[in-house]
Amino acid sequence: MKRSVIKGTGRYLPSRCVTNDDLSKMMDTNDEWIQQRTGIKTRYWIPEGETVGTSDLALEASKKALDNAGWKPEDIDLIIFATLSPDIFFPGAGCFLQTKLGLTETPALDIRQQCTGFLYAMSTADAYIRSGMYNKVLVVGAEVHSTGLDKTTAGRDVAVLFGDGAGAVCLEGIETDKNVGIISTILKADGQYAEKLKLELPASKYPERINAELLKTGGQYPTMDGTRIFKLALRKLPEITHEVLGKAEMTLDDIDMVIPHQANLRINEAYLKTLGIPAEKMFNNIQKYGNTTAATIPIALDETIEQGLVDPKSSTVLLSALGAGLTWAAMIYRFGE
Ligand code: ACO
Repeated sequence: MKRSVIKGTGRYLPSRCVTNDDLSKMMDTNDEWIQQRTGIKTRYWIPEGETVGTSDLALEASKKALDNAGWKPEDIDLIIFATLSPDIFFPGAGCFLQTKLGLTETPALDIRQQCTGFLYAMSTADAYIRSGMYNKVLVVGAEVHSTGLDKTTAGRDVAVLFGDGAGAVCLEGIETDKNVGIISTILKADGQYAEKLKLELPASKYPERINAELLKTGGQYPTMDGTRIFKLALRKLPEITHEVLGKAEMTLDDIDMVIPHQANLRINEAYLKTLGIPAEKMFNNIQKYGNTTAATIPIALDETIEQGLVDPKSSTVLLSALGAGLTWAAMIYRFGE
């Protein structure tokens, strides 16, 4: 049977470390509020005043993943790029990454599913692999949030949450009788909550996508009904976790590490409690990076392997995420071939 297995992972964080105290110089906020409400201590932003696109961060993460996998860029059959912050409105960030990798014909596909983007991207890659259409897929999640945040007090509820970064995975199809690789996936979306977390502008639905009048609305910055999203996460993450375990005919005892999206440490602490698993079975790094959206899960995957928390020869991990759309998803992945 054809299975999609991870051959290499990589991550890249830009060099500018922004502390909560740094943010308190830009807006009315403080370290205590941010840590208590979110768990975040620092995040990494691209260098101030420089032009650095999402595809630039993705390139660095991709180079590391390719190195780990022993792949050359020419080996890639397909690039799938998950981001809500593409370099420009169009074409997609995948096309920019493709040319930066020195490729000229490799297909490139962008996925716009926000915090759930990486899991939608992995699932898309898995479907292509199992269909036989492509065998070696570079799956990337990358974001530059810092250039799109309202860094005044008016935007503080959102601005303190987000960090820039990139993560990448080389996913390859192999023939095996073993129950390894991507074992089961569940993807969900509920558009009735689309307005609860969004970036409105530029918007093609308006006679003019962006103009001085529209800019006065502040719609060029992300807005969020944080409390609503928080409550949805508390319910839907445990639900989908049990659903994906059921689909795989597994229980939480079969999982070595739960790697959830990093939107708020309090969400993940409540999620841990509801699942009833010990703290060492859930990985969190929001304290360092904030919410890096589509980049979060591949960054975390790369870190857990590097830190020896996940064994790239045998561990079984459960990945889960929820974010704008509303979209949410879960995936069970078993290392080994
Ligand atoms: N610093 C200081 N005070 C602040 C800040 C800040 N940065 N932000 C908000 N406040 C104030 C508010 O104005 C409010 O003051 P008030 O009581 O005088 O009105 C008070 O703090 C409490 O605000 P709440 O919004 O109720 O705070 P809450 O505890 O809900 O935390 C948060 C807000 C962190 C946004 C939380 O709701 C959350 O994490 N929500 C879910 C986020 C999420 O999962 N998003 C999905 C992924 S993102 C994506 O998909 C792109």
